[in-house]
Amino acid sequence: MASQTCRSTTDQVRPRRRRVAASAFAVVTSLTVAAILTACSGEVPEVSSDDAVLVLGREVYSRNCVGCHGAEGQGGTGSKLNEGTVVANYPDPADQFAVIANGKNQMPAYTGRLSDDEIEAVVRFTREGL
Ligand code: HEC
Repeated sequence: MASQTCRSTTDQVRPRRRRVAASAFAVVTSLTVAAILTACSGEVPEVSSDDAVLVLGREVYSRNCVGCHGAEGQGGTGSKLNEGTVVANYPDPADQFAVIANGKNQMPAYTGRLSDDEIEAVVRFTREGL
C-alpha cells in the first residue's frame, strides 16, 4: 500500500517537473534569440546625455538616416559614414552640411525637411558619434 502511494506521487510530480523545465528552456531560448537579433540589427551608438547637440544629432540620424546608412553608419543603400569616413571625405564640416542640405544623386536633400540646427547636429553626430 505504502509503495503504491509513493509511486503515484512520483507519477504526479514528474510530468510537472518536465513542464517547468521545458518552459524554462523556452524562456532561455527566446531570450537568447532576442539578444542575437538585437546584436545583428545593430543600434545607433549612444552619446553623452550632457551634450544636447549630439543628443539631437543622434535623434535626427535615428529618424532619417538609419534606413540607408545603417544604425552604426556602416552603410547600405547609402555610403559608409562611420569610422572617420566623413571626416576624411569632408575635412570642412560645411561641405558635409551641403551634401545633407542639397542631396547628391540617390541621397535626398534635407533642406525644408530638417532645420539648419538639426542638420548641424546630425553632421556633428556622424563625425563624433559614429
Ligand atoms: C534614401 C537613402 C538615403 C537616406 C535616407 C540618406 N542618405 Fe545619405 N547618402 C545616400 C547615398 C546613396 C549617398 C551616396 C551619394 C553619392 O555619392 O552618390 C549618400 C551620401 C551621404 C553623405 C556623403 C558621404 C560621403 O562620404 O561622400 C553623407 C554625409 C550623408 N549621406 C549623410 C546622410 C544623413 C545625415 C542622412 C539623414 C539626415 C542621410 N544621409 C540620409 C543615401 C541616403
